[in-house]
Amino acid sequence: MKSIIIQFGGTGDLALKKLYPAYARLLEKGYDFNVLALGRRYADRSEFIKAMINKDESNTITNRLDYLMYDMEDPSAPNILSERLCSLIGEHNEVELIYYLALQPSLYEDAIRQIQQADAAVGCNCTLHKKIVVEKPFGFDLESAQRYNQILETAFTDKEIFRVDHYLGKEFMQNLLVMRFHNDIIRSIWDNRSIESIQIIFDETHGVDQRLGFYERIGVVRDTIQNHIMQIITYLTMNEPATLSSEDIAIEKVKVLRAISPIEDFSMGRYESLGALSGKVVDTPTYAAFKLSVNTYYFAGIPIYVRTGKMQKEAKSLIYVKFKNTTKKVMHDASIHENAVIITIHPELTIDISMNLKEPNTPWKSKPVRFRFNQAETFGANTPEAYEQIVEKILQSDKSLFPSMREIKEAWRIVSPMLDDKHPKEVYPIRTLPRFAAHMADRDKFVWFD
Ligand code: BG6
Repeated sequence: MKSIIIQFGGTGDLALKKLYPAYARLLEKGYDFNVLALGRRYADRSEFIKAMINKDESNTITNRLDYLMYDMEDPSAPNILSERLCSLIGEHNEVELIYYLALQPSLYEDAIRQIQQADAAVGCNCTLHKKIVVEKPFGFDLESAQRYNQILETAFTDKEIFRVDHYLGKEFMQNLLVMRFHNDIIRSIWDNRSIESIQIIFDETHGVDQRLGFYERIGVVRDTIQNHIMQIITYLTMNEPATLSSEDIAIEKVKVLRAISPIEDFSMGRYESLGALSGKVVDTPTYAAFKLSVNTYYFAGIPIYVRTGKMQKEAKSLIYVKFKNTTKKVMHDASIHENAVIITIHPELTIDISMNLKEPNTPWKSKPVRFRFNQAETFGANTPEAYEQIVEKILQSDKSLFPSMREIKEAWRIVSPMLDDKHPKEVYPIRTLPRFAAHMADRDKFVWFD
């Protein structure tokens, strides 16, 4: 069967930085597909290739990459697309069309309608299969997500719809489930009898001015919290699924999300120079800190503190699970440290278990020591990139790494107070942590795991 990926947003940031490199690696692995990139920026294929494809990359992708100058505002666009598709299909007997939308959510409705029109006009004497892939954020809020979904479902069955959150393609996410469900020693301490609190820290050093057109309408809540952060929380707190199939995992994830109330305890800010490159002041949040809890029997009462955002001093992505400390009291020693599991995603993928062991030449004095797993040292540097895993699953029609619509709806419900918030945002100088993050820690008497 011949597969053709029709890349909406084919000249955008995501396609350039993540998708084309992932396609190149999959072609090198032996997958067989062609890509038709749609965009307005370049007049023809040679201009497009010169600008988008790194010369050092193999020819594998270049040979498979076609370009169509596509203006979504042009009423004849769907006809132009269907004509090109017909010529790409040629004499093949069985063809799969994979429409990949890497677009602003505001363009989804138009894009889906155009796909329906183009699709209906593709006449060929072959068996046609189709799939549609939509990037996060899926919608702007709960209402628009539901509306987009209705439109999608008029043209595609749920099996044909892939809603992407690339975090599910990351090795650390998949490892969270294996670590929790393939280890009895972890399983038996992973609940509110043993865990005191959880921190999720996702600090990034880059800003968003390069993609302000996208980000100014999106902000940190839609960009990473509604999707990546909510998915991490489900993987950290879901019950064991009946099997590791996509359906069974989705059932457990939905239960977690339904047990989270809309977030009321939050603060947001934006970095001082946001918009300066374009000569305007943009009041879109680029950083947030918040607290929530998962109100299930096993996790109720564990505060989950999250802080995430842009233009920080250090790139740091980690999950810090702190355990209760009863030994201090029982051993009459206030200096005994808490045990912890620390999953670090950036700069390196590591998992540490922090325990107390005797410090030599001391009378019964302990010192926290870390038992470390390092992904690259143990398994080599050949862990596939998230997008490679995501696109591979799409090609294989395997939905195990994609959030279901129910999860997406629940996640929008949870973040809705943050979306509706009208309070002035803290303006933080670049490379500094907004003050509200430190205030939250002082107020709740915890220390960010810095
Ligand atoms: C993307 C967001 O989805 O995820 C970006 O749009 C963010 O703002 C990125 O930087 C983080 O992903 P990763 O794979 O670099 O951790």
